[in-house]
Amino acid sequence: MYLFNKYFHPNNFAFADRLQNQMLTVDGRPVEARIASATGDIHHIAVEDLTRRPADVRVEKPMLPRSGFGAERNLSRLEVTPDGGMQLKSEAGKVLLEGVPNHWFGMCGSQWLFQFKRDPEMHFYGLGEKQTPFERSGRAYAFWNVDVWADHPMEQVKTGDYDPDYISIPYLIIKRENTFIGLLSDNPYPGVISISQEAQVSQQLKISLDSPPVIVIGAEGGIPSLYCIYGPSLADLTRKFQILIGTTPLPPLWALGYHQSRWGYAGESDLTGLADRFEEYEFPCDGLWLDIDYMDGFRVFTFNKESLPRPAETLAALKKRGFRVVPILDPGVKQDHRYGVYQSGRLHHLFCLTGAGTPFVGMVWPGYTVFPDFSLPKTREWWARYARDFFTIGFEGAWLDMNDPSTGPVDPTDMRFEAGRTEHAAYHNQYALLMAKATRKGLTDARPEQRPFLLSRSGFTGSQKYAAHWTGDNFSNYHHLHRSIGKSINLALSGIPFNGADVGGFGGHCEERLLVDWIKAAFLFPFFRNHTMRGSRGQEPWAYSAEALDIIRHYVRLRYRLMPYLYNLFMDQEETGEAILRPLFYDFEDTRRFSLSRIDDQFLVGPSILQAPFVHERGDHREVVLPSGRWLDGMAGRWMDGDQKTNVIRNSRSTPLFFREGSLIPFQPGKRTDNRHDLNRIGLFCCIPTEFEGEARYLYRTDDGISFDYRKGARTTLEIIARVEGNALSLLLDCQSEGYGAISITPYTVDRFSSVVLEKDGVSERLKPEETSVRLTGKRFKRYRWNGADP
Ligand code: NOJ
Repeated sequence: MYLFNKYFHPNNFAFADRLQNQMLTVDGRPVEARIASATGDIHHIAVEDLTRRPADVRVEKPMLPRSGFGAERNLSRLEVTPDGGMQLKSEAGKVLLEGVPNHWFGMCGSQWLFQFKRDPEMHFYGLGEKQTPFERSGRAYAFWNVDVWADHPMEQVKTGDYDPDYISIPYLIIKRENTFIGLLSDNPYPGVISISQEAQVSQQLKISLDSPPVIVIGAEGGIPSLYCIYGPSLADLTRKFQILIGTTPLPPLWALGYHQSRWGYAGESDLTGLADRFEEYEFPCDGLWLDIDYMDGFRVFTFNKESLPRPAETLAALKKRGFRVVPILDPGVKQDHRYGVYQSGRLHHLFCLTGAGTPFVGMVWPGYTVFPDFSLPKTREWWARYARDFFTIGFEGAWLDMNDPSTGPVDPTDMRFEAGRTEHAAYHNQYALLMAKATRKGLTDARPEQRPFLLSRSGFTGSQKYAAHWTGDNFSNYHHLHRSIGKSINLALSGIPFNGADVGGFGGHCEERLLVDWIKAAFLFPFFRNHTMRGSRGQEPWAYSAEALDIIRHYVRLRYRLMPYLYNLFMDQEETGEAILRPLFYDFEDTRRFSLSRIDDQFLVGPSILQAPFVHERGDHREVVLPSGRWLDGMAGRWMDGDQKTNVIRNSRSTPLFFREGSLIPFQPGKRTDNRHDLNRIGLFCCIPTEFEGEARYLYRTDDGISFDYRKGARTTLEIIARVEGNALSLLLDCQSEGYGAISITPYTVDRFSSVVLEKDGVSERLKPEETSVRLTGKRFKRYRWNGADP
């Protein structure tokens, strides 16, 4: 069906000859290697086969930035040399990455590949969404969006590795000591990236490659197009890559809240019942989700009259109580001649055709279904109009499912695009991206003044501009809890920062301890939704013991307390491409004592918070590697030296949480009992010990959390600079713009200073301490609130 089952092997390829007069020859065919470089060490090589120019079907292409990244000149250059070489070199001429001499580019019919030398010091990351170990060595990966439960054996899905996954992003990150290189295959065809010595010929047969170790990047068709980005650090690399492919626009604040979902929530009584419970338990929650049962016979853009008889009234009433409802939308349109969406799509020739020119018909929830041909602009406009009318009823977000596209038992490869002219492989991986683009347009047309929020299952490079992603159908077990960390981090490094797993697990029954552990691990993930499948036991926070509810609520409230910090991370991401969830080696280098390369059960949320959750069923303690610097142990409230390991005892109420010395962390003080925010009145957690040397800086921004007005100046930006001066902590507040009103700050410290001096506009104010205590995780510890009541 696609190349990964077939024999995609370098032995079958013909390779480019030496460069002559700017031209190469492959198998007697003239090819032109076009190299371009942009500031920021972003290099692009596209190879054009002059005898067989494939159509350019890539949508949402990366854009080489003209300037930026503060670099005046590049630190690297990409060279194709007359002697058959292709190299990425540093300014000083050191080879950073090398194509296999005389074999760096090959073709086999429409298939193509690049080959690079691999060395044992390299570690590998990225590759988008993969259910394989965090560090990616030793495997060959496929890029072809699938419906995981339909396309892989269930046992493998439950507890094993599988590949491919829902989202394809053929982007490989190479770590060599403390420097990083990114390679993006910008091609939507079924693709492969191999960092393995073995080629899988069939399920039964694997063969070993006896050639020197290589990295293979290739695809089944289309234009060979490769971006090569030199970091040198992972943070640099990620920012550059993200700017190249587009950052994620700032979502509405409510999208960052807690979301409650399950396959089975069908309408009014489910939704109001949920809202009642959240209010009763003073449990903050923003999103209530409707799965497929709210529709009339699973027909997209319709309502089930029994379960949701008055959608507009129901949604408006919930909105008044602070809850947003997010409905699922599937692309498959029921083939039903009495159904308006089908009739109109058919009339205007908007559905995908087969090679024979007949409608392509799959089998999804509604039975026989046809699929909008999203490659056609007119289909996207048509879909956007339906979406707009539908959202106008009262939805502010959308959940896009089955867009892999899932066609049930019917092989999707006979589904063609561009009115039947273009083969399936050209658009398969881009289907979800195009659906997200069209749906986002509908949502924006319905509410032009509001930032839209969409969540999509499948995607491709570029999807991050339109939708957040959840990692699809996982399982309620510790294997999936553990994997969710590496999976989300690699997805973030691959350009999809706004992501998260189904918390608690989708398949199977989630036991109490697992849900509690999962919440403790994921409560600061960019996207945070509890979702489970039809037929599984209740997975709502109150479906277990009173103690479990109490613990879960504590961490959800802690997320809401830290919302100012989290929200600012999303602003950074939009502006500079900074990752939100990060591996330790994003902000810290390997030291002589520790390599951070394989740590997949610890992560950073922004630069300041480190989590090391318990992700195994067994074990009453765990090791935590604290990177260089000093850390405040959030469990015990004491400072700890970094570049060492520490041992943490498991406790049902706590989770290992550390704050980096020198951080300033904005938060909302007090108990968060609902989802209301006032981001103009914040507490500032100064993670600064009395002996701190140097300066801590933080840029705090606030806006209305919902509209685009911040782009027109309705945002307040405050730079905070902290220093220890003698026995006092000095906080210099520099208000760079006040477009969203003044900000009032109450500082908090763990160490006791003689005073905290707030200096603003040349006026300084000396604040007095008031001893108080806090429980972040673990036991309560002492801290100081500097002046005044809680804001
Ligand atoms: C598959 C999705 O991945 C899952 O989240 C959803 O609940 C079911 N489809 C039913 O719509």
